[in-house]
Amino acid sequence: MKNPKRYTVTAALPYANGPVHIGHLAGCYLPSDIYVRYLRQSGKDVKFICGSDEHGVAITIKAKKEGVTPQDVVDKYHKMMKNSFEEFGINFDVFGRTTSETHKENATEFFNNLYEKGVLTEQETEQYFDEEANQFLADRYITGTCPVCKNAGAYGDQCESCGSTLSPTELLNPQSTLSGATPILRKTKNWFLPLDKLSGKIRSYLEQHKDWKPNVYGQCMSWLNAGDGLQPRSMTRDLDWGVPVPIKGAEGKVLYVWFDAPIGYISATRELLPETWETWWKDPETKLVHFIGKDNIVFHCIIFPTILMEHGGYILADEVPANEFLNLEGAKISTSRNWAVWLHEYLQDFPGKQDVLRYALAATMPESKDNDFTWKDFQQRNNNELVADLGNFVNRVVVLTNKYYNGIVPQNVALTAEDEAALTKAREAVARMSAAIENYKFREALQEMMNIARTGNKYLADQEPWKMQKVDAARTEAQMFTALQIAGILAVAIEPILPFTANKLRGMLNLPVVLEWQKAKENLLVGGHQLNAAELLFEKIEDEVVKAQLEKLNASKTIQKSTNVMPAKDTVTYDDFVKMDIRIGKVLTAEPVKKTDKLLQMTIDTGLDKRTVVSGIAQHYTAEQMIGKQVTILVNLAPRKIRGVESQGMILMAEDADGKLALVSSDDAELMTGSTVA
Ligand code: MF3
Ligand code: ZN
Repeated sequence: MKNPKRYTVTAALPYANGPVHIGHLAGCYLPSDIYVRYLRQSGKDVKFICGSDEHGVAITIKAKKEGVTPQDVVDKYHKMMKNSFEEFGINFDVFGRTTSETHKENATEFFNNLYEKGVLTEQETEQYFDEEANQFLADRYITGTCPVCKNAGAYGDQCESCGSTLSPTELLNPQSTLSGATPILRKTKNWFLPLDKLSGKIRSYLEQHKDWKPNVYGQCMSWLNAGDGLQPRSMTRDLDWGVPVPIKGAEGKVLYVWFDAPIGYISATRELLPETWETWWKDPETKLVHFIGKDNIVFHCIIFPTILMEHGGYILADEVPANEFLNLEGAKISTSRNWAVWLHEYLQDFPGKQDVLRYALAATMPESKDNDFTWKDFQQRNNNELVADLGNFVNRVVVLTNKYYNGIVPQNVALTAEDEAALTKAREAVARMSAAIENYKFREALQEMMNIARTGNKYLADQEPWKMQKVDAARTEAQMFTALQIAGILAVAIEPILPFTANKLRGMLNLPVVLEWQKAKENLLVGGHQLNAAELLFEKIEDEVVKAQLEKLNASKTIQKSTNVMPAKDTVTYDDFVKMDIRIGKVLTAEPVKKTDKLLQMTIDTGLDKRTVVSGIAQHYTAEQMIGKQVTILVNLAPRKIRGVESQGMILMAEDADGKLALVSSDDAELMTGSTVA
């Protein structure tokens, strides 16, 4: 949508069943916050909507675990999450809750509307029932093996491994998470959204959005085009925690959490703007943008739009910039295994350093594929980028201005072509930063932001005002004036990603608290303007500090035997097996394949010959680590081209349920290169 009148930006309502961790922040809340801050600075009319998702089995399971009521759980975590978001500068206009009265009314109205129009179909089906717990097993109350990808830890409604939406009856080896019992089937009545019949409408909606990120559009199409297409999906559940189904004969049933939760965006807006909320949800000139994680794509791109279309009168999402997942130190972030960096704990260990985390996460945001957060990377980005580039530049400019001119910006300077060129370069980076944010490319935006600081640093290094000061006072004034303008540009441009630092910088430069984006085009620090004292924006993070974080992470990890063991494969004959020529090889050279972050290209001595092998292990082993290693290699695999390089064999790796890879090699002895494995 070109030039919308206003923007409604939503960030997925997190389940109120635990504190916020870095995966949440990088996946959804930081990108949406950067986008919204930029829009606000650009003078756009925008509302940023979020809240907690307080229904569903995710909540009742947690309550059972903690031995408290579901209400206790959501009260506790709603508050905690709201706090964390505020502390990290995630600037929602409203952070609602789906247990609010407004929401109950709103969700009820939606259900009644669809029910009365005959959109929903009533159907008696057989559902799993746990006889020990005396309860139907919806959604996360049941786990089993995913029929699509064979992940053994799939939930009754969704497989988080491959993203498929599921029904409990599709699971292989279903098991109750309440009692561990194998459930029985029992008849019950539910109300279904006939996605099969509505798929034509959904398809034409989606086909208007071919420009969506490929991971989002592709996922939607693969559902639409799956063998038997979209299936009717029940919008009610036999549970006792949720919004009651408002019709006769449905006593003891509640709305499906994925029916009510997205409606929660609208409820929160109604609470924020009781008079004018409709403008934000019904005016076709409002652009609706949903920020979500990839496991939410089907709900935001297919189910919620269908509900809105069938209700009528509402706008549909114009953009759904979904991110992939962030891993932590090479393994999947997991609340149950306590493998996470929790925001409230981070703040205890790094008080005042919210922006360092925002920066490190924005730099590694999983925009187009899963990505990894490591403490080492966090430290390096702080020390080599924030301290060395941004902090250092600003500090030199302010300290020198205070030293030479008592903090007063030089007047009546004559800028040279070099000075103008530096300013132009900085402003071009700002323009590219805008374009990147508008296209949801936040990592690129961050690079452009740093290019402004690097332009400033390079300018100072080339011009050396500290030398010029001894020979030509007038020229020094022009140099300092130029460098000061770059600092002014930074005060505008760092706001979306580094809002706390932006505030500090504006204080140092004595600039207004609010700086519109277009101000980056002006020379903000006019001759005669008085600066304040210099303050350090960032400080170095020492090795011990990150080492302590790693130790803490490993110590708190709950060791849990993964249930995600791959199921057994079909039997092969001995003859099939011996066809494989597996040998011990030695890695002679290794280098990363350009423009990929998973692939290493290696030369391997197989005893038979020296050959090239490309292997997807770069996130687990560096090139340096591989050189000299013994590996187990399948040498008679037909060669294949990987990223333009012919790979002549395959290194055997062990892979665990979290996708962590390790070499299969002998600990007992160094073997002769070329030894066969059988
Ligand atoms: N609570 C869900 C999750 O954490 C997200 C809900 S998004 C909404 O995956 F649209 F339903 F609100
Ligand atoms: Zn799966």
